[in-house]
Amino acid sequence: MHIQVNDISKKYDTKVFALKNISFDVNLSGILAIIGKNGAGKTTLVRILSTQLLPTSGLAFIDGYDVIKEPQRVREIIAAVPQEARAIPWLTPIQTVSSYLMWRGLSYREAREKGREALRILGLEKVENEKNRKLSGGQKRKVLVATVLASEAPLIFLDEPTTGLDYLSRKELWELLMEMKKNRLIILTTHYLEEAEILGDLIGILDKGKLLDLSDIQSLRSKMEYPYSIKIYDRDIKMVVNGIVKDVSDGLQIFTNEKNVYEIIPKLLEKKIKFSVQEVSLSNIFEFFVEEGVQDEEVLEPNNGFNSG
Ligand SMILES: Nc1ncnc2c1ncn2[C@@H]1O[C@H](COP(=O)(O)OP(=O)(O)OP(=O)(O)O)[C@@H](O)[C@H]1O
Ligand SMILES: [Mg+2]
Repeated sequence: MHIQVNDISKKYDTKVFALKNISFDVNLSGILAIIGKNGAGKTTLVRILSTQLLPTSGLAFIDGYDVIKEPQRVREIIAAVPQEARAIPWLTPIQTVSSYLMWRGLSYREAREKGREALRILGLEKVENEKNRKLSGGQKRKVLVATVLASEAPLIFLDEPTTGLDYLSRKELWELLMEMKKNRLIILTTHYLEEAEILGDLIGILDKGKLLDLSDIQSLRSKMEYPYSIKIYDRDIKMVVNGIVKDVSDGLQIFTNEKNVYEIIPKLLEKKIKFSVQEVSLSNIFEFFVEEGVQDEEVLEPNNGFNSG
């Protein structure tokens, strides 16, 4: 599935740009995860690409079809669950899914069959004949995911599909999405950075309407000056370090580069101080990209000892 976005901007009635000069070109089977704070522009981007909203300027093509000039062609190959979508309360899950499939052109029989299968995959077969209004919030969300799953569209948009789901339901949905992504592109937005890191073959970072980056997690890491994190479970140590030091609840966190990791570890071992080393997570990267928090921390130059505690 090929998505080309060329200099898309969107201004609503206000003067502020909800999206500003967004360009990217993605040709992928897999998951494109879009992250960004509240108001960053995620939903606006999803709505433009799924032909629900016109941009103020710019162009976008989905498998060569122009989202502005050929929305009907685009709609034939996409399925979307908008952020605010709610399953119609007086329908049952099976009615919800199968009516959507019939609207997409399937026969009643096919729609029931495919609908049942999708509900089964999502663990909803026991409630398929209950009214949606009787389901829990998470189950209602899953009914909507079942509709797009059953649609077999090659491009699926899911705007915050896991918001409000409990941890186990989210993990179940992750497994399903990992399965679903094999032969299509799923564009999903999320506030759970762990989720974006696990699921995203590509990760787009939006901030205040600008696309700060769009690449895989390893390339994002490689752009970091300090791609490693050393957690030290001791606050009272004195040591020379080149990197960024943060106070965390149970000790210190040092962001540093590979060379320094090799220098620091022997010292920690020698002093018998408990520690762990990891590559920086997407939430660390996100903080570096869009939040001031980490950058405000003290940067310790080589040969400046630190004594924190
Ligand atoms: N219909 C609208 N009219 C005016 N402004 C809007 C409208 N929809 C969104 N905005 C503004 O556009 C900006 C981007 O909003 P958008 O909903 O795309 O962000 P988002 O990243 O999806 O946020 P969230 O994580 O809260 O869902 C915000 O400043 C928002 O207030
Ligand atoms: Mg949104």
